[in-house]
Amino acid sequence: MNDTPLVEVAESHLDAPRLGDPRYAAEPASVFAELRSRYGPVAPVLLVGDVPAWLVLGHRELQHVTADTETFSRNSSRWRLGPQLPPEWPLWPMLGGGRGGRALLFLEGEEHRARSVAVSHALTGDLLEFRARCEQFAEELVASFAADGEAELMSAYAMRLPLLAVGWALGLSPKQGEDLVDSVTAMTAGGPDAFAGQQRLRDVFAELVERNRKSPGRDVTGRLSTHPAGLTDLELVEDLAVVATAGHQTTGNWIGNALRLMLTDPRYTDSFARGRLPVGQALREVLWEDSPTQVVAGRWATRPVELGTARIQTGDMVLLGLAAANHDPTIRPADGSTPRGSQAYLSYSHGRHGCPGPARDMAEVIAVAAIEVLLDSLPDMALACAPEALSWHPGVWLRGLQALPVTFTPALHAGQAPAPWG
Ligand code: HEM
Repeated sequence: MNDTPLVEVAESHLDAPRLGDPRYAAEPASVFAELRSRYGPVAPVLLVGDVPAWLVLGHRELQHVTADTETFSRNSSRWRLGPQLPPEWPLWPMLGGGRGGRALLFLEGEEHRARSVAVSHALTGDLLEFRARCEQFAEELVASFAADGEAELMSAYAMRLPLLAVGWALGLSPKQGEDLVDSVTAMTAGGPDAFAGQQRLRDVFAELVERNRKSPGRDVTGRLSTHPAGLTDLELVEDLAVVATAGHQTTGNWIGNALRLMLTDPRYTDSFARGRLPVGQALREVLWEDSPTQVVAGRWATRPVELGTARIQTGDMVLLGLAAANHDPTIRPADGSTPRGSQAYLSYSHGRHGCPGPARDMAEVIAVAAIEVLLDSLPDMALACAPEALSWHPGVWLRGLQALPVTFTPALHAGQAPAPWG
């Protein structure tokens, strides 16, 4: 899509900066700092096609927006500009356009509460067993490149492990688990295969739901399909697709951002590789420092409201600047350093639509396993390029490396890795 404005831009947004340009992809933290000094905690911004929105940068303001679901709805059908935008506008998939709007992400009120309780219940499994599977998958992935002496860790490791782990938790077969990685990768890449990838994903879950209706498994799908909330087949497929995709790029980029800091920043080398902090705690510091989730779209105002210096109108879109809020100077120590031991970061968002607690536990188990197995197996791993040569995926929502090339002493992996789901 070219840069022609798709809608009329209101006066409040006339010289607003555009999110998602190359500078934003390279150094979002500087862009957020500039916006904060120019506008305060809420800034007018433009998205692709010069579509206007409000970006919340303040930690307190973000908590307020996510807590007040009456004023700031999750349902994009309230968007005043929605009817003016063509169906091919490339950001629609992240805003619940089309059938995706039936997934729990975009529901409101009691309907959301019931579905959210059901999904949280379904995600609450045996974390010890899950940890063992995550370590097994991590070891298998490392074994596939350990003898080479070099690897590209984003595609060979960080972006594969979360889906293999979540696929197992959902009760997918080994073949379906592999297909899931390919389908979700195609879908989220936004290229020509994106819609085919989304369709394959739905086909996999439709088959899984059918199987569970006849004989429920002792897994996430079994627990969700038998929950008293009584989800229909369509709702089950949509919510299972959310579970499979919500943890993929978020957890994969969290692992990637942690590895980059570990390989390039002495403070993180000490934390991770020299064991100064437990791996889980060091990973939480990465959320403060370099969050995989940068901006979430979004919330839609149900009435006129003032926030910071912004005068938000009914039906305006409000974006959650999660990474910016983590760097809000008002909640950082005076020297700007990472708040040690605090879990007040907003990378998982906040409030009723925030990432469910059991999902956060699963994500941390996956990320800890990823780092621990890699450090144990390839202890002398080093970056194979200059840190400045690393590049980031374009896009507004997430922060993730395009590639993370490393070298290490070739290792014959200890023992024969166990078969997946074996
Ligand atoms: C196994 C891994 C994960 C799973 C299964 C998972 C699952 C989910 C689900 C089901 C939701 C929808 C909640 C709702 O609307 O009621 C959600 C939302 C969300 N998750 Fe996760 N998630 C995972 C990992 C992560 C990670 C690692 C992050 C970031 C560090 C993250 C950040 C978020 C955010 C920002 C939202 C949306 C919040 C909003 O609209 O306010 N998730 N996640």
